[in-house]
Amino acid sequence: MPSTLVCASDAPAMNTADPLLEVRDLKVHFFTRDGVVRAVDGVDYSVNRAETLGIVGESGSGKTVSSLAMLRLVPPPARTMGGQVLFEGEDLLAHTPKQMAALRGRRIAMIFQNPATSLNPIYSVGAQLSEILMWHEKASRRQAEERVVELLGLVGISDPGARLRQFPHELSGGMKQRVGIARALMCNPSLVLADEPTTALDVTIQAQILELLADLQARFRMSMVLVTHDMGVVARMATRITVMYAGRVCETADAGTIFSAPQHPYTRALLDSMPRIDQSYSGSARKTLPTIAGRPPNLLNPPPGCRFHDRCPEAMPECRKMMPVETTIAPGHSVSCLRRGSTGVAA
Ligand SMILES: Nc1ncnc2c1ncn2[C@@H]1O[C@H](COP(=O)(O)OP(=O)(O)O)[C@@H](O)[C@H]1O
Ligand code: SF4
Ligand SMILES: [Mg+2]
Repeated sequence: MPSTLVCASDAPAMNTADPLLEVRDLKVHFFTRDGVVRAVDGVDYSVNRAETLGIVGESGSGKTVSSLAMLRLVPPPARTMGGQVLFEGEDLLAHTPKQMAALRGRRIAMIFQNPATSLNPIYSVGAQLSEILMWHEKASRRQAEERVVELLGLVGISDPGARLRQFPHELSGGMKQRVGIARALMCNPSLVLADEPTTALDVTIQAQILELLADLQARFRMSMVLVTHDMGVVARMATRITVMYAGRVCETADAGTIFSAPQHPYTRALLDSMPRIDQSYSGSARKTLPTIAGRPPNLLNPPPGCRFHDRCPEAMPECRKMMPVETTIAPGHSVSCLRRGSTGVAA
């Protein structure tokens, strides 16, 4: 099981005991015509200052919905049904819409998956980025434009003064995502939430954007939540990792532990399905890349007990009846599995 990947956490650990954000028992349900979809069903995670938390899991595991809920942006028919989102000591779920509008983009900023749709096509790059500083910080247009030029330079855009007047359709995908990153940094946020920030980009551009994000995060000592389905991305970027499956958290640990000593069978399966650099997947000596057998459950009617039991190679009869409770098995390492010491609750 140990992986040959070098993780971001192989670097000296940053301050790991200073939570900026704590998400506790978050629940988000979609009220559909067919019934209630329990998309996020009791999720806990925390983000320390100056670290990158990677949230990873297959498509549909609740990564995006839990991130949107954190910012109070879940779209109808979804509703946040419970929990707390403590950011710098304030519970964001208790904030008024006005308080949230003042916080979004200023203290917590988002980088979206698709830069083509996240930028407004009818405004120039300069106009839409300046507006953020003018609105949040009451900056003058001139001050705001100076900041835009500074940030466009910082994210690697050449001739930033001229780019100010360009419109999104005049930029390549990679350029647009650099603009999206500059936009997120306009107000020096303490937390940046990046949801699949490279998934929509060409493979060659993906690496450059990840490198840029890692560089900016370290330079400004920002906290970052990086949401991705890609274990390779969290391996490069994350200090700590939370693994999600079917609306719940399976395992959380520092990235080194997740890659060298994963405990949850789902984490192990995700790692087994990663391509390895020492393995050929083409030609006559090729090996087939393993995949996780089966499919994630339908959250309209999730299975009782552990939600992974249908696909788990270690499942026992009680896994079908008892839902494992998240348990700390070592400092900073928690897991939800009946085979790893979790108690179970009837569910
Ligand atoms: N519009 C919707 N209507 C009903 N259920 C939805 C809707 N959008 C998302 N969901 C549910 O929320 C779950 C989590 O979605 P999401 O957070 O987008 O997953 P991820 O980001 O991990 O791929 C999905 O598996 C689905 O069950
Ligand atoms: S609780 Fe049971 S089914 Fe769930 S991951 Fe652990 S062993 Fe597998
Ligand atoms: Mg998503």
